[in-house]
Amino acid sequence: MPPSITLAIIDSDASARESIEATLRPFAETISIAGSVDTFADGVRLIENSAPNVVILEVNDIQRGMQEVQHITSRFPRTSVIVSSAERNSDWILSLMRAGAVEYMLRPITQEELKQALQKVGRFFFSSSSDKTPNGKLISVYYPTGGTGTTTVAVNLAASLASEGTKVALVDLNLYSGDISTFLDVNPTYTLSSVTSNIDRLDANFLMTVMTRHSSGPFVLTEPNEVDDAISITPDQVRRILEFLKGVFTYVVVDCGGPLAGCNMAIFESSDVVLFTTALSLPALKNSKRYLTAMERKGLRKDRLKLVVNRYLPKADIQVKDAEKVLGHTVFQTIPNEYLDVVASINKGMPVVKMSPRSPVSKALLTLAELVK
Ligand SMILES: Nc1ncnc2c1ncn2[C@@H]1O[C@H](COP(=O)(O)OP(=O)(O)OP(=O)(O)O)[C@@H](O)[C@H]1O
Ligand SMILES: [Mg+2]
Repeated sequence: MPPSITLAIIDSDASARESIEATLRPFAETISIAGSVDTFADGVRLIENSAPNVVILEVNDIQRGMQEVQHITSRFPRTSVIVSSAERNSDWILSLMRAGAVEYMLRPITQEELKQALQKVGRFFFSSSSDKTPNGKLISVYYPTGGTGTTTVAVNLAASLASEGTKVALVDLNLYSGDISTFLDVNPTYTLSSVTSNIDRLDANFLMTVMTRHSSGPFVLTEPNEVDDAISITPDQVRRILEFLKGVFTYVVVDCGGPLAGCNMAIFESSDVVLFTTALSLPALKNSKRYLTAMERKGLRKDRLKLVVNRYLPKADIQVKDAEKVLGHTVFQTIPNEYLDVVASINKGMPVVKMSPRSPVSKALLTLAELVK
């Protein structure tokens, strides 16, 4: 079998290049080195000629490093960039990840660090069938009319589940008002409509080329850019995509909204857990009651349907116990109202669990991730 991953090294330090090559030599069956160069210009030529899956890029200067990472990721969207740098500053890490790097390795690079970084890049996941997860868990996050925080919950749940190298897919199936690309500040060339229009080609390699790994961990498949494309996605296509993703990822998190019909029913039928995300206001409770009743009537059992209360204020007029009484559901998790932290994270394009892990909102979201595992 030919090596399943190709890698290029751009590093001005000859001994660092040699040490990376030596570390990877035992894995020659899986990793082939496309080349190793000492300047960025040579590196770009190397990427152009050999289209490696991964580039390990040395960064000494933050501004230049960000430009170089952006240059590679925008010109060669199928190439993942791992940065190596001697700088421990967390601003550097965040800036380079935001520029598009998927991993940050501290120099001098140890064998363990290199192995972990490559594993996280995820190309391995798709290389051998023995790596397939037979049955990933699908968690959908839903509220029919929007505005209660389904995207906030979905994005943060996916990022929380993806830590420690777990394979997580985050899919925007909020077909008419998808906003995962805004929340994560990504502008992928491929979206869900690329998948549906090539549905017969659906295999692991194809999926890998259309999904973008966000620096917070999950592989994302975003909403179609054109509203027309959204309309043309069928429930059967949704079912096929989700079943396929469940075969490749350990967790699949889906953001959805809209009527209780068509594609949404296909999502719920494939879901192991549906997180019904609501708020403790009268209109939201009234609407929630109608929809929860209808969902149960349509056969969605209570054990799969979990109630999440977002923007929770402990001193509000309506208490959790009131909501539980009205809705006939216990509250699975409350997420506190922390407007500043949540908005700052959206503006930065980074999930709040990664940006402000100690914020009460992050703690609640991390707990939610533990509860659905
Ligand atoms: N826990 C929270 N605390 C404070 N503000 C929040 C919280 N969760 C969400 N918000 C805010 O509420 C707004 C709506 O959140 P979000 O976009 O996640 O909801 P949605 O259900 O996906 O809405 P849409 O219908 O637009 O898709 C956002 O501006 C966000 O900043
Ligand atoms: Mg949304």
